[in-house]
Amino acid sequence: MKEIKQFIENNNDRILNELFDLLKIKSVSADSNYKNDVKEAAVFLKNNFKEIGCDNIEIIETAGHPIVYAEKIVSKTAPTVLVYGHYDVQPADPIELWDNPPFDPIIKKTKNHPNGAIYARGACDDKGQMFMHLKAFEYMKKFDKLKCNIKFMIEGEEEVGSVNLEKFLIENKNKLANDVILISDTGMIANDIPSITTGLRGLSYVEVEVTGPDRDLHSGLYGGAVANPINILSKMISSLQDENNKITIPGFYDKVSEMTKEERIEVSKIPFSKDNYQSEIGIESTYGEKGYVTNERNSYRPTLDVNGIWGGYTGEGAKTVIPSKAFAKISMRLVPNQKSEKITALFSDHFNKIAPKGVKVKVTPHHGGEGYVTKTDSNEYLAAENAYFESFGCKPIAQRSGGSIPIVPLFEKVLDSKSVLMGFGLDSDAIHSPNEHFGLFNFFKGIETIPLFYKHYYDLWEKNKSD
Ligand code: BES
Ligand code: MN
Ligand code: MN
Repeated sequence: MKEIKQFIENNNDRILNELFDLLKIKSVSADSNYKNDVKEAAVFLKNNFKEIGCDNIEIIETAGHPIVYAEKIVSKTAPTVLVYGHYDVQPADPIELWDNPPFDPIIKKTKNHPNGAIYARGACDDKGQMFMHLKAFEYMKKFDKLKCNIKFMIEGEEEVGSVNLEKFLIENKNKLANDVILISDTGMIANDIPSITTGLRGLSYVEVEVTGPDRDLHSGLYGGAVANPINILSKMISSLQDENNKITIPGFYDKVSEMTKEERIEVSKIPFSKDNYQSEIGIESTYGEKGYVTNERNSYRPTLDVNGIWGGYTGEGAKTVIPSKAFAKISMRLVPNQKSEKITALFSDHFNKIAPKGVKVKVTPHHGGEGYVTKTDSNEYLAAENAYFESFGCKPIAQRSGGSIPIVPLFEKVLDSKSVLMGFGLDSDAIHSPNEHFGLFNFFKGIETIPLFYKHYYDLWEKNKSD
């Protein structure tokens, strides 16, 4: 049996126990009540880095949650891989929809994971995926396979927009200097269809407030004669998309590059069952921008979605009232070349412009980020491709994802480094949702595939050097 498989088999229980201990820590970055738990997760990682034999291990405080850094420098002349991941997680609510407590990991079998999956908040996003890298390192170190230098930078604020990380990059360029960045925080198509993520979408996120009268009014006495902020907000939101589901904000599509013929052919090659897609999420039909298929809509095309909307009376029974205010949180997923700040400004101008007389509008921007694309002929892409080929026995598919990791474009801007996105989660793993899980197959396949990336990356790097 191959050494890595032997390592995984011999250490299976211990590795899972370690991951379970990490998953038990409630490192919810968005909620200040969990500040100490977030710190505890950082300390857990620090200790684990020590156990697996890393050097210069540090917990670095930021204005928010800390960053954990560790490294192993094997040679001044070898290439350096920077591993990025995050140990913070999304809030677990709505907690009542979890079949098991979110911070009490348990293994259960599912349709997509017949060999079992770990259920816990963060199992897939990103504790489970990030932890694969520590265990892959442990294996490489123990079995003397390490030919590349490794630096780990694991942050605790990804789920709240990585707001303090850019400053850290700018101030630590030398410390973080690398040849390539390796990340497992995305997904793959299916357990027998491996894929490498070649793109991410950007994000603009705004909160809007519409104010009508300066207090709630009797809806009989005033109804029909004053603007109702909830009615108005609903109208304004629905006007943001036309009958073809195109976004109506002037200038919104200016920088969006149309898909090329080749890109559309690539997308059409991705194995996809519309029936499965629909039944997985309990819908009878997909919905979206006219002229594009699902796999184009969810990655190559920008979107606008309301994430939450509230206002007025929502308690028991009926209260006849015209509310003073209405609110919504709105996200726009962007594609490369659209600039998050610019889109937020376009949104804000437009939203103010379409507000009728009789209401006031306030738009507050939240964190955002830019999109990202990579080439598929770089050394790092080929190394990843070879690694999957060796561990899965087939060539991985290049696929752009619809999700966002705002630090990835900043790695390119600040550190001049490209990222390889080797994700092992499935779309059906319910990240950010109740009952998040991560397949045991995926977790251990990740640990098996990662060392192969280093092997092929080093080989290609050596070869390129002598060419
Ligand atoms: N790991 C996800 C992003 C992701 C998941 C990308 C699956 C591709 C495939 C990350 O933790 C995340 O949730 N990002 C947020 C953005 C962030 C600014 C909160 C997102 O995409 O909503
Ligand atoms: Mn993530
Ligand atoms: Mn996430």
